[in-house]
Amino acid sequence: MARALCALIFATGAGLANAAGLPPPGAASCSGCHAASANVDTPVPRLAGVKAEDIAAAMRAYKSGDKAGTIMGRVAKGFDDAEIGAVAAWWAAQKP
Ligand code: HEC
Repeated sequence: MARALCALIFATGAGLANAAGLPPPGAASCSGCHAASANVDTPVPRLAGVKAEDIAAAMRAYKSGDKAGTIMGRVAKGFDDAEIGAVAAWWAAQKP
């Protein structure tokens, strides 16, 4: 019972965080390499404003090994399907 209540509180907390526009778990780690600001000059492809489907598809392809990358295969392995969806949606909503 206590465990079910905890799960409920966590689920509600995550929903509130997203409603407030805060990045979902893991999204902040992407911006260490993928600049969130258009003012940063970077060779790493930008994610802000990219369609969520495209980000999620690329993450799943890196994770499965279908898409080759120097870094992203390892990054993507740390994310499950729901996390990939949440992170992709957050990046898509950012202003490029
Ligand atoms: C350590 C640096 C690093 C981190 C952290 C990182 N990325 Fe990447 N990402 C890259 C690099 C470099 C590439 C180019 C492909 C490669 O070499 O792996 C890339 C490519 C991508 C692409 C493909 C873009 C395109 O146009 O082809 C997507 C989508 C992506 N990353 C999403 C993410 C997401 C989402 C996160 C956070 C969960 C993330 N990345 C975290 C470095 C990083």
